Amino acid sequence: MSEPVEITPEAVESAVAEALAAVAAADDVAELKAARAAHQGEGSPLAALNAQMRNVPKERKAESGKLVGAARGRVNQAFAAREEELAAAELAARLESERIDITAVGTRTRTGARHPISVLQEQVGDIFVGMGWEIAEGPELEHEWFNFDALNFDEDHPARQEQDTFYVDPVARHLIMRTHTSPVQVRSKLTRDLPIYVLCPGRTYRTDEFDATHLPVFNQIEGLVVDKGITMAHLKGTLDYLAKRMFGEDAKTRLRTNHFPFTEPSAEFDLWHPTFKDGPRWIEWGGCGMVNPNVLRAAGIDPDVYSGFAFGVGIERSLMFRSDVKDMRDMAEGDVRFSEQFGMVV
Ligand code: DAH
Repeated sequence: MSEPVEITPEAVESAVAEALAAVAAADDVAELKAARAAHQGEGSPLAALNAQMRNVPKERKAESGKLVGAARGRVNQAFAAREEELAAAELAARLESERIDITAVGTRTRTGARHPISVLQEQVGDIFVGMGWEIAEGPELEHEWFNFDALNFDEDHPARQEQDTFYVDPVARHLIMRTHTSPVQVRSKLTRDLPIYVLCPGRTYRTDEFDATHLPVFNQIEGLVVDKGITMAHLKGTLDYLAKRMFGEDAKTRLRTNHFPFTEPSAEFDLWHPTFKDGPRWIEWGGCGMVNPNVLRAAGIDPDVYSGFAFGVGIERSLMFRSDVKDMRDMAEGDVRFSEQFGMVV
């Protein structure tokens, strides 16, 4: 049996005062937790006083119990209030630190613009698809037979010369970078059912200078029709329609005689450009003609039953006089500031 003890109001008050001081001194939730362990938990002065209740003489138990109970109540309340206060302050600080200024100027990622050559190529494609034609493609690394022989080029035609054509090693394999999109004509005739109405856009290669009006890699659009009863009037009508769709109602074309091995008769065609920057005028636009019977035969088509027309235009050249581009090199250099001027078509 332990000695009877007395729990004095002073002892209780001092334990409370210490606890309240610790509560007030705690500046954050972690410090408050430590204070709680020291002043409220096991081993704290208040817990010790509570433990002593056992030894308080019976007649004083009620009074002491009240005293200790009230003290613990005050301390508990102080902890709870401070905890709430600190949690609110921490939340406020966190919200402040994560605050977003929705009026701030953002970092802009620059969006690319589609290349005007691709856009123009697609626009021309749409014009023909709208008439029921199909888009045909062929390889850029092409066999000499498709690029020249099947198109009726002589063995010693000047275009075959190495100064025009990129030959690919070993030369005995007869592979070249296609010099025009006309080989796609041949491939279309060999692989498609008749009648044929195709448009063949694509990249072409020649050993040309890189200057304001020449690029060694450029784009062409080839058109080909093979059907029964096709005449030069159909060719002319198609070219005029293309001119009007691309350059306005007042645009038209005219043909001038020329020679291409794969067409007979052949012509060059000029465009009447009604809105040209320096005033309306005729501009050389492309080559065309009636598909040479030899070319039809090379693809196994009977020229007595079928006839056709073909045409080819350069896309870079068309873009130059359509959009007043002075230097073709701008089209090859891939500077987005050039492309942006044509709009951000995606
Ligand atoms: N292939 C020719 C060239 O690159 C252009 C051309 C002319 C295409 C006449 C044709 C055509 O389809 O009939 O110079």
